[in-house]
Amino acid sequence: MRPVTARDPAVDAALADLGCAGADELSIGGVPASELARTFGTPLYAYAASAIAERFRSVQRAFGADIAVLWSIKANPGLAIGRLLRQLGAGAEVASAGELMLAEASGWLPVELRFAGPGKTVAELQFALGRGIGTFHVESADEVQALARLCREQDRRTGIAVRVNLPQSLAGARQRMGGGSSRFGVDRDQVPELLRAIAAEPRLLLRGLHVYSGTQTFDAAAWVEQAQAIRALAEKWERDLGLTFAEVDLGGGFGVAVYQGDPVFDLERAGRGLREMRASGRSRRWLVELGRYLIAPAGVYLASVVRTKMSGGEVHAVLDGGLHHCALATGMGAVLRRPPLLVKATSLREPARPCTVGGPLCTPLDQFGEQLPLPPLAQGDLVAVLHAGAYGLSYSPHGFLSHPLPAEVLVQDGVPRLVRKRGEYGDVLAGQEG
Ligand SMILES: Cc1ncc(COP(=O)(O)O)c(C=O)c1O
Repeated sequence: MRPVTARDPAVDAALADLGCAGADELSIGGVPASELARTFGTPLYAYAASAIAERFRSVQRAFGADIAVLWSIKANPGLAIGRLLRQLGAGAEVASAGELMLAEASGWLPVELRFAGPGKTVAELQFALGRGIGTFHVESADEVQALARLCREQDRRTGIAVRVNLPQSLAGARQRMGGGSSRFGVDRDQVPELLRAIAAEPRLLLRGLHVYSGTQTFDAAAWVEQAQAIRALAEKWERDLGLTFAEVDLGGGFGVAVYQGDPVFDLERAGRGLREMRASGRSRRWLVELGRYLIAPAGVYLASVVRTKMSGGEVHAVLDGGLHHCALATGMGAVLRRPPLLVKATSLREPARPCTVGGPLCTPLDQFGEQLPLPPLAQGDLVAVLHAGAYGLSYSPHGFLSHPLPAEVLVQDGVPRLVRKRGEYGDVLAGQEG
């Protein structure tokens, strides 16, 4: 079998994010992966609090401490992670009533929160109003009417910002969420009329604008260009309509490598561009909202080799974890399947040989990669998916094949703490009746 030595630079960069450049064994927050697996079992998600803090502070350093950084809970609805980001000084945006409850349990006051999403039901609007949420990011004229009616019925007032669908989505974004005809936001040309309608409704307090038109962009210059376009629009509408936008949420969508060959988002470039933009023009509160960028590099998915075998002259390793917990790494949602950032956790520098690595599910989709360059794997060996902290468990089809949920661990000051207990075989029966 041919030895393979080249390791993708994105894997090395991800190891460096965890402070493991040049190390023999992967560690998370300073605790060896093998120790975490021994203590908590596999499959396991492990997060390094120090890496989350470092990432948050790097955004603050790049953009200036007066930019509000919102944590997008959808990227990882972990209570301990929410608490940590709240303590670090992040704001938060939610996209469902469940996320609102999670945000409150993490310590945010409802008044500090923003609620986005194109399909908020009347029940959710009512619930969020009742909790006293700070600002609704409205995405249609119909939603504005529903909100105004509920405010009248409940004799309440609420903050509101309009999510604008720009004619172009964020250049370079791998997932586009706007531009042209879209479920997200209000088309730019319809916004002035909607702003007039909001201004005429005394119970709706117009706070500003919101744009979020794509995610997983690696083009910082394009992101700055979009921010400039949003500012120009805000200023034009303020002039034309005699309004004031106290705040503008510029979205985010900063890319993080998930697959081999992925580049690095130039945070310094984005920060410099934004600071230059803010040096002129009227002062207002600027916000960015980030999920993946804050959490992905801090998280690792650990799985053990259950079995190895030869088939068609190739080595296969079957893990106890896979698509059902860590779908992104198997290429779910990607147009082209590429290998994820996978390593043998206990042996980072051993020479590699090709090995096909998959999970236990009965679908060909449950495969991390074919003929990946990895050190030889045997039963019980530990495999780690790097940059797995965002859109992990919550984004995965964990109902498929009824395996239990993995445990989750947060390592803080060198001490690992179980923050989600492992599921059990019988969980599959929960809530069901025969
Ligand atoms: C409105 C909104 N804000 C924030 C995010 C978070 O994006 P990311 O995790 O890529 O930073 C998303 C992701 O879909 C979103 O739809």
